Amino acid sequence: MTKHLLSLGDFSKDELVGFVNRALEMKRQRQAGEQHTSLAGKIIGLVFEKPSTRTRVSFEAAMYGLGGQVIFLSARDTQLARSEPLKDMARVMSRYVNGMVVRTFGQDVVEELARYATVPVINALTDLHHPCQVLSDIMTVIEQKGAIENLKVAWVGDGNNMANSWIQAAARIGFALTLACPEGYEPNRELMTAALGEASKPITLLRDPAEAVRDAAVVNVDVWASMGQEEQQQERLQRFSAYQLNAALLSGAAPGAIVLHCLPAHRGEEITDEVLEAHQAVIFDQAENKMHMHKAILEKLLG
Ligand code: CP
Ligand code: NVA
Repeated sequence: MTKHLLSLGDFSKDELVGFVNRALEMKRQRQAGEQHTSLAGKIIGLVFEKPSTRTRVSFEAAMYGLGGQVIFLSARDTQLARSEPLKDMARVMSRYVNGMVVRTFGQDVVEELARYATVPVINALTDLHHPCQVLSDIMTVIEQKGAIENLKVAWVGDGNNMANSWIQAAARIGFALTLACPEGYEPNRELMTAALGEASKPITLLRDPAEAVRDAAVVNVDVWASMGQEEQQQERLQRFSAYQLNAALLSGAAPGAIVLHCLPAHRGEEITDEVLEAHQAVIFDQAENKMHMHKAILEKLLG
């Protein structure tokens, strides 16, 4: 059966930890100058309906780094833009490529593609999830702290796709996660209920960012208006103003806490320039780790 990566809920704890360990190994091997050809002769198609810098380039670099090749398609240049059914797109692409990496709006789009594709479909961000990003973020935490199960992770801001994927990860892997979101901007309710039913460590939703950050070893932030929410930008600036990660808020975190931001950042909104620059070394490792993680994912799903 074709294995897809639509959300982190598609994988067991062992599989998620396996991705992290393999990605860390891939990173060490690249640093040692070792070459890989495990995906030689394979091709992935990237179908993107939203902009991307990191995810696109890191998937392409990962695929080339494993000896494979890439076809990038901006969705608006495909027949999807002229209403070709997803089930036809999935079956056609499956005849040409060995895997599809898809960035789109609805989670139902990647689900429908996966239903009809005979090659793996990988979610490169939807409105509901950003699973590959959170996997590489967990890799970054483990790289920095040695383990994640014993840590408190905080999420401050919008209960968006990133927050949802963090919730699934916390439930499946087993670490404490505290989120602070303003009223009306909570994470997906169904997903939260499912996670609470599975979790072995507390997953807590609060209003107060200071309480969420208190004693956290990892503090996560993301933009206040995600792609597709541009017209809500002004309203969100007001609703989230108390949720900025600045030096005062971060001072309540555990000593040596790391700050994660999946980027792109809006300095002066969700994070101050001062905090971002003080933590830039880890934040850019986090960006780099996407490439190593995408290698591990491609190797496992397409290998
Ligand atoms: N973090 C992330 O997914 O960045 P891009 O939107 O640039 O891919
Ligand atoms: N939540 C953000 C993440 C960007 C990588 C968005 O969906 O735009």
